[in-house]
Amino acid sequence: MSRLIVVSNRVNPPNPAEGGEGSVGGLAMALAAALREYSGIWFGWSGKTIPEFTGQLNMQRIEGVTVATVDLEETDYQEYYNGYANKTLWPLFHYRVDLTAYDRSFGEGYDRVNKRFAETLLPLIEPDDIVWVHDYHLIPLARELRRMGVTNRIGFFLHIPWPAHQLVVTLPRHRALVEALFDYDLIGFQTEESLQAFEGYVFSEVQGRKTERGELEAFGRGLKAQAFPIGVDAKDFAQIVQGETARKVYDRMMAHSVFRKMVVGVDRLDYSKGLEERLIGFERFLHDHPDLRREVMLLQIAPLSRDEVEAYQDLRTRLDGLIGRINGAYAEMDSTPIRYVNRSYRRDELAGVYRASKAALVTPLRDGMNLVAKEYVAAQDPEDPGVLILSRFAGAARQMKEALIVNPNSPEEISDALERALSMDLAERKRRWEALFDNVNREDVTAWRDDFVAALRADPEPDADKPEP
Ligand code: ADP
Ligand code: F6P
Repeated sequence: MSRLIVVSNRVNPPNPAEGGEGSVGGLAMALAAALREYSGIWFGWSGKTIPEFTGQLNMQRIEGVTVATVDLEETDYQEYYNGYANKTLWPLFHYRVDLTAYDRSFGEGYDRVNKRFAETLLPLIEPDDIVWVHDYHLIPLARELRRMGVTNRIGFFLHIPWPAHQLVVTLPRHRALVEALFDYDLIGFQTEESLQAFEGYVFSEVQGRKTERGELEAFGRGLKAQAFPIGVDAKDFAQIVQGETARKVYDRMMAHSVFRKMVVGVDRLDYSKGLEERLIGFERFLHDHPDLRREVMLLQIAPLSRDEVEAYQDLRTRLDGLIGRINGAYAEMDSTPIRYVNRSYRRDELAGVYRASKAALVTPLRDGMNLVAKEYVAAQDPEDPGVLILSRFAGAARQMKEALIVNPNSPEEISDALERALSMDLAERKRRWEALFDNVNREDVTAWRDDFVAALRADPEPDADKPEP
């Protein structure tokens, strides 16, 4: 069978030799799980910077996966990662035009790093390999590989939303970015909504069309575009929650729950996650329900993310103030309504926390999918499951209809959903959880990987109406 070469900016699978901790973020978690059973290579940035780019590969074997990383130059890190990826594409694709910076040097750094990645990866690619590129950092990678003569099948998966046409066109060079996608054989989106937004752009902006076989054609090239909703390793999660560490964490949290029911939030500290809106919703809940104030506590775990980017620093400052204000107003001498933690935890610790929580607040303003919602469901006790409160703007809301779906912009909706979750009877909690778990278990990370890889492997049938190159 042909090898799978996975490429992503962030490469950091959980390493048991280092206490099992890997990167925080959906992409790393999903790929670590997806690659566990595959022979292949995972290539990307080491997370380190050096004064001058050397292209030196660092190869490691972690949990059966060959991990190949390369260091980036400081300027690359600033222009490509902090710049184009996280000050341009990330905010724009999450509908935050107000935070989007359009600096020419960022685009140059983005193209330069994609070229450097391609040059470094090239010697690792064998003729039968299939290459699977991930996320917005690396959209032009296939273009660079094709220019170097690579004819292997190359697929791309976007972990974040593809935004509406009107937003894409605010990007200088939007056409070049979309054209670069046409160097892939297959591109995958999290949801049908993102797929349709992409198709909308192709039809109206670059006069593309759909062939009879369902391929998209533009720029004289064709590709397959499909939705592949990403999942979690639900079986593994359901298993680790039974392990010793998860149980210890669970017992410790339950001991506190004697005094207060716990509601949990787990997110990178990112403005797309709706953290402020969630806290304001929780504040509204405390205001509206004086009788429940002493019964409920919110544990918000929010590890720092992209903290060299100003918008993230500003958010952190605002959250510090907001949490201080709410705790100041509603704390008692012996209790505080919000516990706020800026660090990351091991997966098994998180599993214990999820299980001990009566409800989870997952309230992004925009999210490609949101894996925390799925992990929360996977970790629940089938005999006494907690309730998922989920934003309608998370990709996960398309599949997880039995959650309590809220509009995170409405403090009242968050407050009402909390009240409903915490008073929900066992029969309803079980009914909702069973349907959610069934979905999380069926549409898991293995199904996502297998569906994508099978679609990428599939030989294109000859297409009668394809234009001559
Ligand atoms: P994103 O990819 O935008 O960060 P997701 O919800 O899809 O959002 O994925 C987040 C992933 O990061 C989940 O697998 C979650 O368990 C993990 N994660 C988030 N916060 C922490 C934390 N404090 N410690 C460990 N893992 C975390
Ligand atoms: O899942 C979306 C994503 O942007 C991933 O591409 C990324 O690895 C993760 O969030 C965490 O962000 P970062 O790699 O910038 O720390």
